[in-house]
Amino acid sequence: MFIRVLGAAAGGGFPQWNCNHPNSRLARKKSKNALARTQSSIAVSLDRKKWFIFNASPDLRQQLWNNPELMPSEDDPLRYSPIMGVVLTNADVDHIAGLINLRESQPFNLYATKRVLEVIKNNNVFNVLNPKFVNRIPIKLQEYVELLYNNGEKSKIVIKPFSVPGKVALWLEDDHKGPDLGSVEEDTIALEIKVDDRKTFFYIPGCASVPDWLKNKISGSDVLMFDGTLWTDDEMIKDNVGIKTGKRMGHISIEGIDGSLKRLDDINVGKKVFIHINTTNPVLLENSKERKIANQHGWEIAYDNMELEL
Ligand code: MLT
Ligand code: MN
Repeated sequence: MFIRVLGAAAGGGFPQWNCNHPNSRLARKKSKNALARTQSSIAVSLDRKKWFIFNASPDLRQQLWNNPELMPSEDDPLRYSPIMGVVLTNADVDHIAGLINLRESQPFNLYATKRVLEVIKNNNVFNVLNPKFVNRIPIKLQEYVELLYNNGEKSKIVIKPFSVPGKVALWLEDDHKGPDLGSVEEDTIALEIKVDDRKTFFYIPGCASVPDWLKNKISGSDVLMFDGTLWTDDEMIKDNVGIKTGKRMGHISIEGIDGSLKRLDDINVGKKVFIHINTTNPVLLENSKERKIANQHGWEIAYDNMELEL
C-alpha cells in the first residue's frame, strides 16, 4: 500500500492566507526552513494507478496538479479520473470543501459516517456531486468495510472507522447544546486501514486526547499518522493570532503532560508521523528546537508529497 500525503497542514494551510505570524511569513518568503504545505488530505493506492482520497481538502485541485498520478494519463479515456473514492473523517471545512472540485459527473464512492453524510446532504452545494454518479456509502463505527473501486470491484483496502475524542465541525457548533457544542460520536473518527491483514495503518488527523484504550489500539501498528495541529495547547493565544486553545478546537497538543509526545512515547509503532499541522506550530520549521524534540521522540513531520509504502 502506498500512502501519499496530499496536504500536511491543518485548516488554512501553511502559510494561512491571512496570517502574518513569523512562521507564515517565513513560508511566504519560501525559506528553506519553512516548507509550505497545503490543507489536510492523504491518498492511498495499491498500484499508484487507482487512488482513494482520505479527506477532500479545499486545496484538492492544487494537490492533483502536484500529484499527476491522480489525474488522467494520456492513455485514459476522454473523461477519466484515477480517484475511485473519497473517505471523510469529519465534516471540517478542510476535509470536505474539496468535494466541490470533484463535480462534472464523474463516478466515485463517497464514504463517511451517517452523521457526516447527513451534513453533506443538508447542504445543497454538495448536490454538485450528482447522486447518479457518486455513491454515498455510510460507514459504521467499529465495522470493517472494503473500499470499492468506481466499477464496483473490491479494492482489497479495508478500513475500520472508530470514534475518537473530538468535537463537531467548527461551522456546525451549537452553543445551545452544552459544553460539547452538539458533538456526537460520529463527528470525529479515526481509521484503521489495512490490506490482506498484513500491515496496519492508523489515520487520525483530528483527536482531542489519547485515552489508554486508544494507545492500546494503535500499539503494534506499522504506521500512525496523527493530529499534530498544535505544539502547545495555548500557542495561538500566546502568539496573539487567536483566542482558542487546542482543547477548545478538539485538538490535542504535542507538548504537555497529556500531549501526544508523552502519551505516545513508549508505544510500539513502526512509523509515527504528525499531520494536520497548524501554521503556528513551530514543529513546521526544519531548524526549530521543537522539530528536533519531535524527531528525537521518533516522530516524522508530514510534508506535501511525502510517500510511505507499507
Ligand atoms: C479544525 O481542524 O479544527 C478545523 O479544520 C478548523 C476549521 O474548520 O477551521
Ligand atoms: Mn482541520
